[in-house]
Amino acid sequence: MKPWSELFDLKGRAAIVTGSSMGIGEGIVRRLAAQGASVVVADIEEAKGKALAAELSKSGARSLFVKTDVRQVAQIRKLVEAAVKEFGQVDILVNNAGIFPFAPALDVSEELWDRVMGVNLRGSFFLAQAVAQQMKKQGKGGAIVNMASIDALHPTGQLSPYDASKGGLRMVTRSLALEWAPFGVRVNAIAPGSIATPGASAATAAPPGTDLSKLMEHFLSRIPLRRMGEPDDIARAALFLVSPAASYVTGVTMVVDGGYLLT
Ligand SMILES: NC(=O)c1ccc[n+]([C@@H]2O[C@H](COP(=O)([O-])OP(=O)(O)OC[C@H]3O[C@@H](n4cnc5c(N)ncnc54)[C@H](O)[C@@H]3O)[C@@H](O)[C@H]2O)c1
Repeated sequence: MKPWSELFDLKGRAAIVTGSSMGIGEGIVRRLAAQGASVVVADIEEAKGKALAAELSKSGARSLFVKTDVRQVAQIRKLVEAAVKEFGQVDILVNNAGIFPFAPALDVSEELWDRVMGVNLRGSFFLAQAVAQQMKKQGKGGAIVNMASIDALHPTGQLSPYDASKGGLRMVTRSLALEWAPFGVRVNAIAPGSIATPGASAATAAPPGTDLSKLMEHFLSRIPLRRMGEPDDIARAALFLVSPAASYVTGVTMVVDGGYLLT
C-alpha cells in the first residue's frame, strides 16, 4: 500500500494552470507547487502572473509565467511548447480560465455569447487537445481538470451563455475521459459553488446604498455550511483529482459548494 504522503506527491510532474494570475487558479498553482510540481502560470493578466511565478521560484518551486489568451489556439500551442521547453514534459493541466458576465438572456449579444464560449469552452477544449497530444507522445498518461461550475448542473439566473459553456464543459470532460483513458489520461471536472475571488467580487458588486451585511446574511443562509468557499477549497479538490490518490477516477464532476446544491 502506498503511504499517504506519496498519494499527494507531485515531485517531478509539470503542470499548466490557466487563469492562474489570481483567484481559484492562483490557489491551485500554490497547492500544486507546494506538493512539488513545476508550474506554468498561464493568463492574460501579466503583472500579477509574473509576480506569482517569481514568488514561487524564489521559494524553491520551478515556475514560469506564459502570457496566454486561451481563445487563441496559436497561443495555446505556444503555451504547451513553452512548458515542454522549460520542464521537458506536461503531466497536469487545469483548465481554469473562465469569465462569468451577468446579462438577462433577452439582452445577450452574439459578441457576449462568443466571448464566453471562446474562453470557457472552446479554449478549454483546444488546450486539453494540445496537452493530450503531448501526453500521448510522452507515453506516461496524465491528468486534466476542467473548471466547471454548479451552473453546469443548476442555473443561477442571468448567466445563460455561462451555463451553456459550463454544461458543455462538463460533457466534454466525460467525452475526453472516455476517449483518452486508453492512453492513461484522466479527465475530470470540478463544479465550485460560491468562491471568494476577485472575479466573483466584481461580478456581484452591490449597488451603492445596499445594506451589505443583510445581503451577505441572506446569501450565506442559502449555503448549508454557512460560508463562502475560498480558492484553496477548490485547490485541494484539484490536488486530489490530479494526484496519484485519484488514479482510478475519471470522467467525474466533483461538486465543491458547501452543500449549496442540496437546498
Ligand atoms: N468564483 C466563483 O464563485 C466560481 C464559481 C464557479 C466556477 N468558477 C470558475 O472558476 C474559474 C476561476 O474563477 P475565479 O472566480 O477565480 O475568476 P477570477 O476572475 O477571479 O480569475 C480568473 C482568471 O482568469 C483569467 N482569464 C480571463 N480570461 C482569460 C483568457 N481569455 N485567457 C487566459 N486567462 C484568462 C483572468 O485574467 C483571471 O486571472 C472560472 O472558470 C469560473 O467560471 C468560479
